[in-house]
Amino acid sequence: MRIVTAVAPVNIATIKYWGKRDDDLILPLNDSFSATLSLEDMCAKTTVMISPYLLENKFWLNGKEENMDNPRLSNCLKALKDRLNKENSEEVSSWKIHICSENNFPTAAGLASSAAGYACLVYALASLYQVDGDITAIARNGSGSACRSIFGGWVRWHKGSLEDGTDSIATQIFPTDHWPEIRVLVLVVNDSRKKYSSTLGMKQTVMTSELLKHRTKFVVPDRIEKIIDAVHKKDFQSFAKLTMKDSNQFHAVCCDTYPPCFYMNDVSHAIIDMVHVYNEFKGQLKIAYTFDAGPNACLFIQESDLSEVLSLIRYVFPSNLNANEYYRGIALDKDLFS
Ligand code: PMV
Repeated sequence: MRIVTAVAPVNIATIKYWGKRDDDLILPLNDSFSATLSLEDMCAKTTVMISPYLLENKFWLNGKEENMDNPRLSNCLKALKDRLNKENSEEVSSWKIHICSENNFPTAAGLASSAAGYACLVYALASLYQVDGDITAIARNGSGSACRSIFGGWVRWHKGSLEDGTDSIATQIFPTDHWPEIRVLVLVVNDSRKKYSSTLGMKQTVMTSELLKHRTKFVVPDRIEKIIDAVHKKDFQSFAKLTMKDSNQFHAVCCDTYPPCFYMNDVSHAIIDMVHVYNEFKGQLKIAYTFDAGPNACLFIQESDLSEVLSLIRYVFPSNLNANEYYRGIALDKDLFS
């Protein structure tokens, strides 16, 4: 019997992946760039066990048994087994497997749960089967963005150019301790499952959006280089602007999809307003927002601004509002933070 437990955090893309050039191999149209949260934050935890005595494969997600016939899961397993070390592991490839995974945050609510989940699963399985070398291309088979959660710190997913996808891998650009002053606040606007999955949304976008063609060809390549430079220099002003512009363009592309995919809601828009009014009020960019395929906001801030930003959020979005009064208004008073 072999048993391994792994933990993998969520990653937050600051330059978004949206659109595949190959749906089966999960090959993206553009490079993307993200920050992986720390192991104390939003994480997936997965235990995998193989034994000659298990009678069938089984998979539990958040305590509920799920179907093992999921093609993405099978693709990850197959890719790992293809890389087994023949000398010491060939026999174990026929053993049945039990997988038990849980997230410490809402699943499939646009909070990158599948990224953390598949990164964790592939990492645990790679240890179990003693597979060496790059495993990001395998994690990509589970969920594209999962390849970035294999590493901590600041990570780039290179779209690659080979047809078989072997060069579509993630690499760590800066380590976890590169910019310790950065903090990420996740504002959970709605934690229910999203209306349409990113897979469906992307497919629809690739088929119908003109703006996506412009974005992948003319915008993202330059933006990736610029954001890497900004993170390298710890230049929060450039980093924040690029992050917000890329989130906005990603959602513009979703809106340009026909029929459109709307992932943000009125509260998300109120958060965007709040951030811009506050940044203007402070005379510099203090907060950067980014939204994935859901209404929840991820805010990047510097540690020195954390307590003031938390007061701002509590002031603009008091917890005792009813559903029709989203927020208190965003006209900020100069005395508010004095
Ligand atoms: O990996 P997927 O298929 O869940 O797609 C993720 C897409 C975004 O989260 C919206 C952007 C990204 O780069 O993570």
